[in-house]
Amino acid sequence: MAKILVTGGAGYIGSHTCHRLLEAGHDVQVLDDLSKGFAHNVPEGRLNVINLHDLVAMDKLFSAKKFDAVIHFAAFISVGESVREPERYFRNNTGGSLALLDTMRRHNVRRIVFSSTAAVYGNPEIVPIVETSQLKPVNPYGESKLMTETTLRWSSECTGLRYVALRYFNACGAEARYGVGEEHEPETHLIPLILRAIRTGKPLTVFGTDYPTPDGTCIRDYVHVSDLAEAHLKALDWLMSGGEGGVFNAGTGHGFSVLEVIRAAEAVTGQKVPFQTGERREGDPAMLVADSSKLQKTLNWSPKYAKLEEMVASAWAFESSHALGD
Ligand code: UFG
Repeated sequence: MAKILVTGGAGYIGSHTCHRLLEAGHDVQVLDDLSKGFAHNVPEGRLNVINLHDLVAMDKLFSAKKFDAVIHFAAFISVGESVREPERYFRNNTGGSLALLDTMRRHNVRRIVFSSTAAVYGNPEIVPIVETSQLKPVNPYGESKLMTETTLRWSSECTGLRYVALRYFNACGAEARYGVGEEHEPETHLIPLILRAIRTGKPLTVFGTDYPTPDGTCIRDYVHVSDLAEAHLKALDWLMSGGEGGVFNAGTGHGFSVLEVIRAAEAVTGQKVPFQTGERREGDPAMLVADSSKLQKTLNWSPKYAKLEEMVASAWAFESSHALGD
């Protein structure tokens, strides 16, 4: 059993990971400023409402809890918002991570699992994407995460920090036994918006139908949030047992277009998805599909969910029981 701090543990992937860590017997504390996350996602008695930039509160928490490792999710995640307000993204995501790393060094906590993203690749030249592909983010969100990765690499080289950065592709779905799911305000992600369109009858807009893909809509690698939670657990256990760390893609290796996701949702729910087509959304690469063989080989990770319908069904179960915004 290890003492783990989960930053951003009140968010979507963070809360799933917290529940998984607790199941595995770890002692978990959550740090979240609740600017995006929800207190109801955090198991009772584990939430510390603190912003990463609040060094006094951070010092107090680290002194009291003596963490063995940190899993770092806390960040803003909206690509579109990052294009409109880049400074906020660099301050919150990169700056917040620097404050966290400083605090970890002061308290001699030398292991971290970092929530990175496929957005560090930008528009990849070759798909599936391997970790050694060119890193050329096309939006401030991706750049803010890449800057954190760069800091981690230098901290590792210069100070012996051990880290795993997981570059996830498109997280989706929900784990019914944890009672948490995808809740963003405002919601911008495809699957929850499709399910909301079914529930409310208000049409979804498909962003762009002229991409160089078979049906003209963007292709993404959808990976179930429970599989991502498992990847974090494995990364943590690896670091705890002396693993050297590194950077890993996390996806299923299967790409689905926006129209294919719509069809999967129709198959799962037995209802038509009302939608219209619109312009491309700024900053969207045509196709992102992961080669996750490094993660599979090194950490013996393999996604349990490969079928899109099963992932969408788990999201639908959450959406139907929570009736989130319109
Ligand atoms: N889309 C629509 N209509 C919508 C919403 C989305 O057509 O109303 C399309 C997008 O254009 C995109 C696809 O659905 O082609 C998926 O979009 P999401 O917003 O669900 O996800 P993204 O691929 O933009 O972003 C996700 C994460 C990011 C992460 C990125 C990495 O949200 O945090 O994957 O690729 F950086």
